[in-house]
Amino acid sequence: MPTDMLQMASKFPEQIKEAYELGRNVRVPKKSFKNIIVAGMGGSGIGGDLLASWLNPRSSIPAWVNRDYTLPAFAGPETLLFAVSYSGNTEETLSAFRDGVRRGCTIIGITSGGKLGRECTTSIRIPRDMQPRTAIAYLLFPMIGVLDGLGVVEADEEVQESIAINGRSRDRLNEDAKRIARELTGIPVIYGHTIYAPIAKRIRCQFNENAKILARDDNFPEMCHNDIMGWPNAGWTVILLRSADEAPYLARRIEVTKELAFGDVKVIELWAKGNSPLARMTYLLYLGDLISIHLALQKGADPTSTEIIGELKRRLA
Ligand code: PA5
Repeated sequence: MPTDMLQMASKFPEQIKEAYELGRNVRVPKKSFKNIIVAGMGGSGIGGDLLASWLNPRSSIPAWVNRDYTLPAFAGPETLLFAVSYSGNTEETLSAFRDGVRRGCTIIGITSGGKLGRECTTSIRIPRDMQPRTAIAYLLFPMIGVLDGLGVVEADEEVQESIAINGRSRDRLNEDAKRIARELTGIPVIYGHTIYAPIAKRIRCQFNENAKILARDDNFPEMCHNDIMGWPNAGWTVILLRSADEAPYLARRIEVTKELAFGDVKVIELWAKGNSPLARMTYLLYLGDLISIHLALQKGADPTSTEIIGELKRRLA
């Protein structure tokens, strides 16, 4: 049912709570890890982008996202590798996981089953029968739970705030999302910055997969050095991810870009809410997900189906 996606996505705050606990409860040998790699594709890989953009500004252990069949040369016994595949059968992720085994990485699988579930000795089992993209809480928060448990980062307060703010905001976000979806015209171009860069990408992918439309994403300040020359595009929509804690130099750059580049193009600003970075990131992620689903429903598309992705995988298998 097309509306199942909306119901599933609405449970995001409860899913965060459950997913974080899954990560907190897993036993990982305490080692001094030099780096963290997240191997995953599509809806499973985006959790790695979110983790890296949240973690890297605060941790001396860098996180790297791997969307390929093999791992980078620095992967080895001092690497903590999260192999993330909702189905557990994604070719690239399985190959990277096996590469991690050969290189002696400490590996934690995050999956609902499949080959990864069978092959990975330490794997966090997440609920089955979801679309990977509706399982985003389960594809991100177990990693945060593991890292908190290992003492790599202190996450508890931020996770609790994320659950609370998204739970409190659910009805209003849903109403806002419905209205914003009606305002979109042409190709939406979503711009993020800093920790919100992967949120822009997530929203773009949600527009692709849920609403079945093309969309683009880019980030400040990089867009000011290239993308800005492509505007204005009549009929398209600009979506800016904004946050009250933007550095003054960034806020000014965004304002000047609005004046200079977009002309008469419709600009929609989505403002993050919350005190902590994780709460603000998840708030925008939740809003973006809901917009994409309402857009699908308004244009009569089924947000749950991803037939072409499935057919491609079948042909390549
Ligand atoms: O949203 C989707 O269905 C895809 O982007 C999948 O997440 C992607 O193909 C990878 O599959 P999996 O998440 O099962 O590893």
